[in-house]
Amino acid sequence: MVARSTNSLPRSGSERESLRARGQFWTPDWAAEFMVAYVLQDKPARLLDPALGDGVFFRAAKRWAQANGFDVALFGRDIDPNIIEQAKKSGLNDSDLRNVMIKDFILDPPTQTFPAIVANPPYIRHHRLSSTQKQLLRGFAESVTGRHIDGRAGLHVYFLIRALQTLSPNGRLAYIVSADICEGVFANILWQWICSQYRLDAVIAFAPAATPFPDIDTNALVFLVQNAKPTSDFAWVKCFVRSSEELIALALGRSPITHQGIEVHRRLLTEALETGFSRPPSNETKHQYTLGDFATVMRGIVTGDNNFFFMTSARAKELGIPDYLLVKAVGRTRDVQGDNFAQEDMERLEAQGRPTRLLNVNSAPFEHLPQPVQKYLQEGETRGLPNKTLIKTRKTWYRMETRKTPPIMFAYLGRRNARFIRNSAQVVPLTCLLCVYPKHSSPEFVEKLWKVLSHPETIANLRKVGKSYGGDAIKVEPRALERLPLPDTLVYAEKLDEHRSSKQGLLDFGE
Ligand SMILES: C[S@@+](CC[C@H](N)C(=O)[O-])C[C@H]1O[C@@H](n2cnc3c(N)ncnc32)[C@H](O)[C@@H]1O
Repeated sequence: MVARSTNSLPRSGSERESLRARGQFWTPDWAAEFMVAYVLQDKPARLLDPALGDGVFFRAAKRWAQANGFDVALFGRDIDPNIIEQAKKSGLNDSDLRNVMIKDFILDPPTQTFPAIVANPPYIRHHRLSSTQKQLLRGFAESVTGRHIDGRAGLHVYFLIRALQTLSPNGRLAYIVSADICEGVFANILWQWICSQYRLDAVIAFAPAATPFPDIDTNALVFLVQNAKPTSDFAWVKCFVRSSEELIALALGRSPITHQGIEVHRRLLTEALETGFSRPPSNETKHQYTLGDFATVMRGIVTGDNNFFFMTSARAKELGIPDYLLVKAVGRTRDVQGDNFAQEDMERLEAQGRPTRLLNVNSAPFEHLPQPVQKYLQEGETRGLPNKTLIKTRKTWYRMETRKTPPIMFAYLGRRNARFIRNSAQVVPLTCLLCVYPKHSSPEFVEKLWKVLSHPETIANLRKVGKSYGGDAIKVEPRALERLPLPDTLVYAEKLDEHRSSKQGLLDFGE
């Protein structure tokens, strides 16, 4: 997991880039305190932090051991040779740091096991790992779990596997990590394995006001795990305040009956594995239908360079691009106000100088194109557009993806703002929105489907299929949106199910 507890996290630039490359972001003290309390509750003789950083867990462990009258030897690892100096600046001394090794925890692990491990792993996503690293990591994961872990797992996933493997029998692990560890494509296999081998005591999720990492856009979770026989249930905790007091009581199994700052749910593993550990418990009875029963979903158009291909109609006129080589499009979620996008909205955007026309030169041979268009494309070539990452994968560099006009669009990334939008303006969306194509063509069906989709109960279900980010934002990808549960009562009320069996009027949308 990632982030510094201070407000000094660089927002951009090379400093932040180098932090990202090493996954160096620090845990705040209040979170470190309850994590350490959990792993030290049996007064073990040794504790390991395999990703030391500036040593927040060492400092918390020293305080805890002293307050509870026992000694604990501190062991640590990090790959950054400068880390010892940083740890000293944060208040640790030579004696505290004498068992710290500068070594890769995953690929060059400790030879002994530990009864207490506490970690905030480097948060390095898969596309920042080299192919050699990925190969080694996947080989390692497969040898430990006996399962194939999808290549889209980040370093923090492999770190967890190594940490679990390094736990002594009955040892305890506290692990703070981004929620994507239980939302990615690899998640199901990973957690099936963990829950069949280890005892999951608790999962702690944080409300936006209590996020341990306010500086970064990530949703954190803490996992408290014991190397003991699995049980069938665990505590799922939502934390609303940045304070360790109640979380320490919970971690020690002394959770009071009433709480001020946390909410505790006992959950069955079977339910949580199906719902996802980052999501609140799902108590509802099984739903019969998902969106995929009534519609298909595709992402919007990726242009490769919006500045070049996407323009205002005034600019298109100025360039002399005729209307038949332009399609009406919407380029950012913010341009769509509310849940109906109409012709007036296009006029509003034009008046604001927002682009609404996408250059759509597809089948026509270059020499048949009007002169001004040829000139514009040549200008694009001079600017090096054909060599841009995505554009260079196209056979003809300016050939644009096409989409039929989707009757419904979906704003998939937003802070509490994910919504379905009726596309009355008949535009195609760029990649900021998803296209929802109802499987039945009648306008009546489209209206009914949209009504079901816009209902607050359906919108609430987005949490069940989306990936969570910081500040309560979620992101829903096309295949996941097709899995969106539609409440039975709404489907029946609108009689959507009756259209399902009828093949008449089925639409054929696509690229
Ligand atoms: C997210 S920081 C956490 C630091 C600290 N424990 C905390 O919670 O504030 C992760 C640390 O892991 C280190 N690291 C990165 N890759 C590593 C690896 N393969 N083995 C050990 N440490 C690694 C980074 O240098 C960084 O200091």
